[in-house]
Order: sequence, then C-alpha cells, then structure tokens
Amino acid sequence: MNYKSFNESLLSWYYEVRRDLPWRQTNDPYKIWLSEVMLQQTQVKTVIPYYNRFIDKYPTLDSIADESSENLLKEWEGLGYYNRIRNFHEAVKEVKSSYHSKVPDNLNEFLKLKGVGPYIGGAVQSIAFNHRVAAVDGNVLRVMTRLTEDDRDISKQKTITSIKEHIETFMPIFAGDFNQAMMELGATVCTPRIPKCVTCPVQSYCESFKNNTVNQYPFKKKSKAKKEYYYNIYLILNDNNEVYLYKETDDLLQGMYKFPKYDIDTSIENIEDKLNLTLSSLTEPIGEEKHVFTHKVWYMNIYVVYTKDKNDHFVPLSNVRDLPMSVAMQKVYKYIDETI
Ligand code: ADE
Repeated sequence: MNYKSFNESLLSWYYEVRRDLPWRQTNDPYKIWLSEVMLQQTQVKTVIPYYNRFIDKYPTLDSIADESSENLLKEWEGLGYYNRIRNFHEAVKEVKSSYHSKVPDNLNEFLKLKGVGPYIGGAVQSIAFNHRVAAVDGNVLRVMTRLTEDDRDISKQKTITSIKEHIETFMPIFAGDFNQAMMELGATVCTPRIPKCVTCPVQSYCESFKNNTVNQYPFKKKSKAKKEYYYNIYLILNDNNEVYLYKETDDLLQGMYKFPKYDIDTSIENIEDKLNLTLSSLTEPIGEEKHVFTHKVWYMNIYVVYTKDKNDHFVPLSNVRDLPMSVAMQKVYKYIDETI
C-alpha cells in the first residue's frame, strides 16, 4: 500500500470536515491532556460540557493540582471510570512538584505519570508536541483492521501494540492531526455497524472494502457475560432530616459516597450490628433499580428505614446533592425526593 498517498487523502479529508471541538482550539498541553483523559472512555458529545466546565473552573494545571480530590470527584460525577480523575489529579500534582508545572515534552517521562498509558501518551505527545507517536483507541483499531484485513483479536494487548508500531512506520510529521484524523474517521465514517464506505476518503486503500468483508472486522473474542449482583440499599433517615452515608471502598468508586448496600440475604439485625444503629422494621421496597457497569450489573432494591440514632455518618438531606456519588447511587437518591 502507498501510505504516503493514504496519509494525504486522510489529512486533506480531515482538514475539510473536522469538527470544531473545544480542545482543538488550544495548544496548551494541560488542556489537551485533560480532554484525552475524558475522551478515553467517553463519547465526544458527553465530554464537551464537562470539558468546558473544567476549563472554566480550572484554567491552569496548578489550579487543578491545588483542588481537593473530593471536589474534583464531584465535578467528574456522571462521567464514570472515576479512577481517571483520581489518577489525573495525582499526575498533575506530580507535574507541579517535579516538572515546574510543565507537562513533560518527552514520551518516556510522560509515561511515568499516574494514569498515563500508551493511548494517553500517544495522544498528548502527538497533539500537544507533534511527536510521532500513534494513539490507538477503539476507533483506530477498527479503521486499521478493516484497512488491512487484520483478523487478530483486538482485545489482546499484543495486537494493539503491533498495530501501534505499524502506524508509527508510516504516520506523517503532522502526528497530532494524523491521530485525530484516524479517530475522526472511525467515529464518523468507519463506524461499527453501518460504515459509510461510500463517502470514505481512503476507500481505495481498504482491503476489506475491496473484498466486501468490512463487517468481519474488527475481530474481538467474545467476553464473558456480565456478572450479576443483587443488593438491598437502605435509605436510613433520622429525626433531624438526615440520611446515613458512608464512603465507597470498591476500587472503581473509591472516595464516592454511598447509601448502605448489602447482599439481599443480609438480615436487618445483621445490618444493625454492622452499622451500630437501631432501625425500624422493614416494609416493602420503595423501588428497584438496575445499573450496568462495564463488567457487572447491579440489581438494587431500595428500602426506607428509620432510626432515632445520630452520628457522624448522618448528613442533612439538603447536603447530599453536594457530595460525589456514583450514577448507581444517584439512581437511589431520587427516591428521597419522592418519599419525603
Ligand atoms: N477521541 C479521543 N481523542 C479525540 C480527539 N482529540 N478528538 C475527537 N475525538 C477524540
């Protein structure tokens, strides 16, 4: 394949049709980094308002480094994959203290920071500094496997690394534009189910288009079914209009607040012991909710119980909205409005 003319076709298409996205109006490495952290597992249209809010509130790397992790988690609420903001916060603090608040302009230094893996490394080093490093996300894997009829399993790190290395043999010096053009092609033309091959700027280079096999790529080994978990969630209210909350310890949601959550076969006496509270007896659940994570599903029955007890875990109902809470727990919170 003639990659030189492939690059030209791809880039001239990109310059013509690229979307006007807020992080494309800056060359501040901190802002580009933040945008890529948000975009890593979330769609562009979801990210835009979060990005704009963050940049308004934290216009510089120092301003975010100096913020509390709890406030950052609150701002991130709803974007999911909360480890991203925890790691990003650790990383910017490190940049502030060890690199005079300047994002390292060197891939190996940059990769040492928390949460910076090959994707973020490639994206930021190419877009902010024009280093010739590929940024391989799901879009790029789809484009590349279709282009070359590559039938290796894209859930394997080995496949991703090999595709990354291949791209780096032909990507042009306009590395940031090239990477974004590949992502843009995957997001808008070379889409998962019904790709728009008719309008594709690189159709003439595409092996799978030629052989009518586009829908066979990318190949991904079927993942196991999501594990299902059944929980009872307790909204424990006291006479002061307060509700009982505590902090998540679950890795994924660490630092966020939750209502007491127990396997459905945990008895109320057992919960009284664990929480050191005296509770009213259980009535029917006031609702059921389901929350789907990447690898698991929670089914939640929501109960309201009352207590005369008071302690540091109780938070005034009017303050609950100000605390960072996962989307799963926000689904529970809405019942407070409905019952009180
Ligand atoms: N997805 C990941 N990075 C992106 C970027 N810079 N622009 C658009 N979509 C993206």
